[in-house]
Amino acid sequence: MRRSAILGTGFCVPDRVVTNDDLAGLMDTSDQWIRERTGIEERRWVTEGQTSVDLALPAARQALEAAGMQATDLDAIVFATSTPDHFCPGNGVYLQRALGAGHLPALDIRTQCSGFVFGLSVADAWVRAGQFERILLVGEEIQSTGMDLSTAGRHTAVIFADGAGAAVLGPVPEDEDRGILGFDLHTDGDYAEKLWVDAPGSMYHPRISEAQLARGAQWLQMDGRDVFRHAVTKMPESATAAVTAAGYTWADVNLLIPHQANLRISEAVQKSLKLRDDQVYNNIMRYGNTTSATIPIALDECVRSGRLKRGDLLVLTAFGSGFMWGSCVIRW
Ligand code: UT7
Repeated sequence: MRRSAILGTGFCVPDRVVTNDDLAGLMDTSDQWIRERTGIEERRWVTEGQTSVDLALPAARQALEAAGMQATDLDAIVFATSTPDHFCPGNGVYLQRALGAGHLPALDIRTQCSGFVFGLSVADAWVRAGQFERILLVGEEIQSTGMDLSTAGRHTAVIFADGAGAAVLGPVPEDEDRGILGFDLHTDGDYAEKLWVDAPGSMYHPRISEAQLARGAQWLQMDGRDVFRHAVTKMPESATAAVTAAGYTWADVNLLIPHQANLRISEAVQKSLKLRDDQVYNNIMRYGNTTSATIPIALDECVRSGRLKRGDLLVLTAFGSGFMWGSCVIRW
């Protein structure tokens, strides 16, 4: 059976830099607290009126250029986001319109921080099945408009941020010994309300009420300690399962890109897997936690800086809202 490979990558973050000191002007927090607890030094937030397409389109164009393709070469779009511009239709629709790629199918998937890994598994399966040949996968989020920027929301507002990363996938012959080797994917809905946005929701009529707005049901809510505790066990467990299933050990792995949730989480994952510094990539210091966009943004940085080279064994792992988590092994 043929394999799929990532043929090009790209990313885009908003121009607006928000420093820890900027946040300390909005809520009771400090640069020291944020650095010590999360590793984040600054992040990017959109300015009013910027849309998902404003971030996703430049990322997609970079990925297409790196793959040596035009938008019209694409057969499908998979758009991973937990923060769509509208309840419906999905962000993929707006990206399809902006790309000028013809009437190709555009599928939104909502698996939050694990969005890029789950999206990769959908795109990989389509390529391997022969249903679509060339697929644009985007992870994009605008989190800044959904956070309580008062002191009550400080445990989320200092972490989450905006950005987009993209990858173009296509088929490679199996004898080329490169491409996506396998996945490990999970969901545990028992923890659905540990990291969630309650409203607007279609179980309410109207979908959001004055009372809900007054109590902040529209803001991202997180039990940070519980998320942290699960992330540091599930990411190493899942990544190891994926590496083992692909027939390798951690000694064979050149690079792990963990979802950039919190630098302390990435460091705990690295420690539990006994990996060297050169085997793990982190960039949360500069971008914060951009949910489904963290992995493709980091991936593009690794590709363009030469940190990831042809033939390297790459592992991606993510954990987040749902809880949903998963990993992917790729021969680059
Ligand atoms: O993308 C995947 C999903 N998200 C994550 O993976 C995030 C996982 N969780 C975390 O990263 C951490 O739990 C946080 C960074 C959110 C919080 O760090 P923590 O070390 O778990 O702090 P905490 O929630 O236990 O709070 C410790 C103290 C509390 O004060 P008291 O009760 O000890 O007086 C908080 O009120 O720190 C306080 N606090 C803050 N202080 C200053 C919480 N947020 C802030 C803040 N600035 N931004």
